[in-house]
Amino acid sequence: MKQEIEKIQSDALAAISAAGDEKSLDDARVAFLGKKGQLTVASAGMRDLSKEDKPVVGQLLNVARQAITSAIDEKQAALEAEADKKSVAGIDLTLPARGLPVGGLHPITQVKDSAIQTLRRMGFALAEGPEIETEFHCFDALNTPEDHPARNEKDTFYFDSGKLLRTHTSSVQIRTMEKVTPPVRIIAPGSAYRRDEIDATHLSVFNQLEGLYVDKDVQLGDLKGTLEFFLQSMFGKDTEVRFRPHFFPFTEPSFEIDIKLHAKGQKPKWIEIAGCGMVDPAVFESLCETRGDDVFSPDKVTGFAFGMGIDRLAMIKWGIKDIRLLIENDVRFLKQFA
Ligand code: DAH
Repeated sequence: MKQEIEKIQSDALAAISAAGDEKSLDDARVAFLGKKGQLTVASAGMRDLSKEDKPVVGQLLNVARQAITSAIDEKQAALEAEADKKSVAGIDLTLPARGLPVGGLHPITQVKDSAIQTLRRMGFALAEGPEIETEFHCFDALNTPEDHPARNEKDTFYFDSGKLLRTHTSSVQIRTMEKVTPPVRIIAPGSAYRRDEIDATHLSVFNQLEGLYVDKDVQLGDLKGTLEFFLQSMFGKDTEVRFRPHFFPFTEPSFEIDIKLHAKGQKPKWIEIAGCGMVDPAVFESLCETRGDDVFSPDKVTGFAFGMGIDRLAMIKWGIKDIRLLIENDVRFLKQFA
């Protein structure tokens, strides 16, 4: 019996060491340690042994089983290590990784975000309205008469339905005031559309930012203070801001706002940056009619509004000479802002 066990052990060790892959190693394990394996069968022979022989043979069997098991474990580890080595053969793990391109926000998005951030800190909430608008919300409700040039078919994209692509975000003023009660303090960034000839300063789709503040006793001083603070936080606290009388149908009085631009190598010059004014009482009156109540009666509230081109803000901020660069998505241009 002793010899038989020793033979099994040495056969097993030979088979294990000869195993070249996991499959033949497993075959060897089954052949010697499996249910019908040689060592298992030999162990069953213990039954027929005398009392004195049993512990001796039992000991031998244990030694053999342990030797075979650890040989299998070792071989298994060696095979795995070899497979690992093979899988990285020819790969230089010390090579530095290829750089991942880093994305960045579009300049328009950056200007828009920082404008929103400043205005929200001043208490303005974000509002939205549709880009496909009714003539009513885009013009009539904003006190803009039938013969106003902005309503001309040559200037505006009309649909057969009579709706149009909004020519300004001012329509969101009306959309908002139809739904809420004063006080109203909103900003509405969004696209606006005009049938402009496309050139270095005009596109047929551009971005605006609208603002509206309506409450008891809102005054021109509030408008000036708010917009001065806003523009100085966008362009630097020493930025000079000028309010120049102008006309818009939906505000009275109305102004255009200029800031003084100090471009390198150029004489400082005033450039127009926004339109604004005190909400025209006619707008409130029309609103009372639509709503069927008087919470926006011009006897009860006053307000100011403003609107500016975000594309223009970006062009001024970075000295961009051609507005078309902002929609061409040329990475050579865009990566300067990332
Ligand atoms: N909607 C005007 C435009 O597109 C800009 C504007 C002017 C907006 C005065 C206003 C405002 O809210 O009060 O040219």
